[in-house]
Amino acid sequence: MIIAANWKMNCLKKDADTLINELIKSDNLFKKSKVIIFPSYSLLTHVYSKIHSSNIKLGAQDCSLFDHGAFTGQVSVEMIIDAGCEYVILGHSERRVMCKETSEEVSKKLFKSFSLGLNTIICVGENLQDREDETYLSVLKNQIKLSLSNFDKFDFNSSNNKLIIAYEPIWAIGTGKVATEEKINEVHVFIKNFIKDHFKTKIDVPVIYGGSVNEDNSNDIFKIDNVDGVLVGGASLKPRTFLKIIKNST
Ligand code: PGA
Repeated sequence: MIIAANWKMNCLKKDADTLINELIKSDNLFKKSKVIIFPSYSLLTHVYSKIHSSNIKLGAQDCSLFDHGAFTGQVSVEMIIDAGCEYVILGHSERRVMCKETSEEVSKKLFKSFSLGLNTIICVGENLQDREDETYLSVLKNQIKLSLSNFDKFDFNSSNNKLIIAYEPIWAIGTGKVATEEKINEVHVFIKNFIKDHFKTKIDVPVIYGGSVNEDNSNDIFKIDNVDGVLVGGASLKPRTFLKIIKNST
């Protein structure tokens, strides 16, 4: 199972230390599940210095679609790798909604991240209106088609790049509302099949679920057939809760 911790815009060094120290004590758990921490840019090198000899991996919450130059405030893929990251999250709904990030931009970023060998989590998810209108599958299809439009430029059978899709219904993020097991399974099967059909690949892309995952519901989420892991926001900031989620996955 993949257990990804999206710290979003939270934690100072001292908070990161508390979290990491607690996690490191249970390092044996991270051999069974792949645990990846996504702190803010400012914490990347600090967190890397704490975890580099453990089994915990490091990732960034976003990257620039440019390599270098006059792009104030942006951080390139090369810089992220230089800070110790092996992963990046692209197209999180908070970036799509608040920063108006488009799937076309996500696709360009994916091209950059894959070109430099970074494992990439692409987030997709419908909003409440799409769910109520029952248009969610076509919304997701469009997001995937456009966000992965560079996917076929890479030879996945021989490359080391790993693509992971995170299905995060927007109505479930930070709301305490979790999608039902049927809804999660339906969408995960749909995503896996769509990627195989559309991109003519035999690769089984891991699909992880995100949206109000906690220590109580994670056990049932891990039991769902087509769930390959979880992307955890709020609950990843509480060491005991996050450790319980990791334990439930093993
Ligand atoms: P949440 O966030 O677990 O707090 O709902 C998940 C996410 O946004 O990745």
